[in-house]
Amino acid sequence: MKLTGSKLLVTAGPTVERIDPVRFISNHSTGKMGYAIAAELAARGAEVTLVSGPVALETPPGVRRVDVESAGDMWRECVALWPGMDGAVMCAAVADYTPAEVSPVKIKKEALTHPPDKADGNEPKDVSSHRELKPSEIMLRLIPTKDIAAELGRMKRPGQLLVGFALETDNEEANALGKLRRKNLDMIVLNSLRDAGAGFGGDTNRVTVFTSDGSKTCFPLESKTAAAAHIVDMLSESFKAAD
Ligand code: CTP
Repeated sequence: MKLTGSKLLVTAGPTVERIDPVRFISNHSTGKMGYAIAAELAARGAEVTLVSGPVALETPPGVRRVDVESAGDMWRECVALWPGMDGAVMCAAVADYTPAEVSPVKIKKEALTHPPDKADGNEPKDVSSHRELKPSEIMLRLIPTKDIAAELGRMKRPGQLLVGFALETDNEEANALGKLRRKNLDMIVLNSLRDAGAGFGGDTNRVTVFTSDGSKTCFPLESKTAAAAHIVDMLSESFKAAD
């Protein structure tokens, strides 16, 4: 199959997990790498749908963008879109946990804490460690989100190509290869936070690409646009090889 005319899904950016109307849990992803890949794919003639968490970036020319907020929203969009796609590149930094309850109103300190003078022995307890909380401390219960890449890996039919990312701080290669296998990916792009100039926010990246057939390709520190072009070259080769 050719990249030109193929239908591709790209996820990008962080997800935002609400605690109440003013607070949330998120991460440092700016979406730059995912947007650069979406732009490169569209420039080479692919039909790109970009499912994006909240970012401050312009939609690349020719790309259809679907904005989402939480990991749950991103999961629903991707699972619905995947059967109609030829491939997907999962760049989003999806939150692994989300608050068990979202408060519809701003949570007030007085409602949560037990001031020392009012301590009555019924203070909230940390159920995971059975450690009693200090009167001024609070617990936020988090539940796991669903793994979108792993779900697409389970749904994958012959001919569909699934690419994941791994951002690691240690044991980089072993962690990346573990994710490649567990999520049934065809390719995984590793970037290490140990590399100066790689990772969140900046305009450069140093990536290493592993494929499910055992190849390893290292690219130099380069702009995210150049890294995106290298990743798309590899995707294009895999499409050709799958013919
Ligand atoms: N991913 C996803 N949905 C999730 C978590 C991760 O689609 N709920 C995707 C990411 O977009 C990326 C790949 O899975 O392509 C690896 O993400 P990463 O956060 O590095 O791995 P996790 O599986 O979350 O493992 P950990 O956080 O323990 O390193």
